[in-house]
Amino acid sequence: MEIKIRPWRMADAKRLTAAINNKKVQDNLRDGLPYPYKVEDAKAYISALRKVKKGSQYAWAIAVDDAAVGSITVIRKDNVHRFTGEIGYFIAESWWGKGIGSKAVELACAYIFEHTDIIRIFGIPFAYNIGSCRILEKAGFVREGTMRKNAYKNGEIVDTELYALIKA
Ligand SMILES: CC(C)(COP(=O)(O)OP(=O)(O)OC[C@H]1O[C@@H](n2cnc3c(N)ncnc32)[C@H](O)[C@@H]1OP(=O)(O)O)[C@@H](O)C(=O)NCCC(=O)NCCS
Repeated sequence: MEIKIRPWRMADAKRLTAAINNKKVQDNLRDGLPYPYKVEDAKAYISALRKVKKGSQYAWAIAVDDAAVGSITVIRKDNVHRFTGEIGYFIAESWWGKGIGSKAVELACAYIFEHTDIIRIFGIPFAYNIGSCRILEKAGFVREGTMRKNAYKNGEIVDTELYALIKA
């Protein structure tokens, strides 16, 4: 099984749709994605990526043997935070627990530190998202603290964790 991150292709739209159309995935993401999510939404996302300002975000499909099974992005912050980027990711449920998320985080961070001027990558998983916290820890991220009552998700006020990886 070859795990890689690669640019999105329009042909990935169906697989991206299938991955996002899952409440268990969306329950761990920020709000704002349509649910149900349609193939047209995936196509619009992939097409919009082509117009993104260079260097403002890095978005890849996570692929197993070249087939898209998830998504990973690093979004650059602005102003005084311009050399930092926030990481976000998800894997289609049928592919959970196979080490794919961990590998994708490692690959994305290696790319960012090698090819961009970002020096700090951070992630803000919901505190209940043990799997996400774990993959950040496995990639060398340090837990900098709990951001108490930092989010409102599915009708509840919840804590989030702050994890960061600094360029060596
Ligand atoms: C979080 C997510 C990306 C993990 O991806 P994955 O490919 O399943 O993760 P891995 O297989 O690489 O697992 C890495 C580690 O996390 C652990 N883990 C994964 N899910 C877990 C869970 N729900 N509870 C406890 N541990 C978990 C694994 O046991 C493994 O640890 P180990 O190697 O020490 O045994 C995936 O579950 C997902 O897409 N979830 C929904 C979206 C999401 O949460 N995105 C992140 C938003 S911050």
